[in-house]
Amino acid sequence: TSAITIPRLQQWARDGRRLVMTTAYDAVTARLADPVVDMLLVGDSVGNVCLGFDNTLPVSMAMMNHHLEAVARTRPRALVVADMPYLSYHLSLDDTLCNAGGFLQRGAAAVKLEGGSKRVETIRALVECEIPVMGHLGLTPQSVHAMGGFKVQGRDVHDAVQILEDAHRLQEAGCFALVLEGIPTELAARITRTLSIPTIGIGAGPHCSGQVLVLHDIVGLTQGRRPKFVRTYVDGFDLLQQALKHWAEDVRRGAFPSAAESYALPADAHAAVSA
Ligand code: KIV
Ligand code: NA
Repeated sequence: TSAITIPRLQQWARDGRRLVMTTAYDAVTARLADPVVDMLLVGDSVGNVCLGFDNTLPVSMAMMNHHLEAVARTRPRALVVADMPYLSYHLSLDDTLCNAGGFLQRGAAAVKLEGGSKRVETIRALVECEIPVMGHLGLTPQSVHAMGGFKVQGRDVHDAVQILEDAHRLQEAGCFALVLEGIPTELAARITRTLSIPTIGIGAGPHCSGQVLVLHDIVGLTQGRRPKFVRTYVDGFDLLQQALKHWAEDVRRGAFPSAAESYALPADAHAAVSA
């Protein structure tokens, strides 16, 4: 179990300490991020970030379990949140509880799922079974086809009011925190002000209780266009590829490995080998 608990995170948010969450998909990213952040999200973004899919829809429970287990083996101190993938909480309550409970058995402390009012019954059932739930509102990537693309949500009055109402319904249903993704700053601020649970923003402006970004975006390992809410702190792709190029060059010119990087035979065995 992690050193950082849900009650502690909620207390930090009430104290005005901003919460920090990033993604971890395997032992390497978990070890990188764990000492730095408060929450590790095993996100279904693993589908597009690591597995080469165009969106998160093809990500399965089997894939999520595989990645969660790798993260959990590092015994993080940060709170581990596992993302429920598409169709893992849409079919039946039994199925949903099995999937979410399986995440907890694999080392997650909470699950995250996308959607507003229509998820209230599901969330209540999960909370009833001691499964903490993080909600996710606004630009919900599993709704890509319903939204007609990855578009900012809540830009007109009707949609904004709907998202605000959904936020309150999710809090009432028992969510311990909400991710607010791709919504206007003022709407996220209003939601954060009027809720008692923390909000974690991504593309939702600076007035949330905390922020989340995909780790590979922060360190410049994702290729192609990145949304404007991403801040990249290092060109990790170029940096790592330069290192690889130096090694390949050394191999090609015979400069790798050196004697120090090789194993020597004891002098008395030389004759046998060189004969
Ligand atoms: O899957 C993910 O990485 C997410 C965050 C960006 C909130 O859901
Ligand atoms: Na996600």
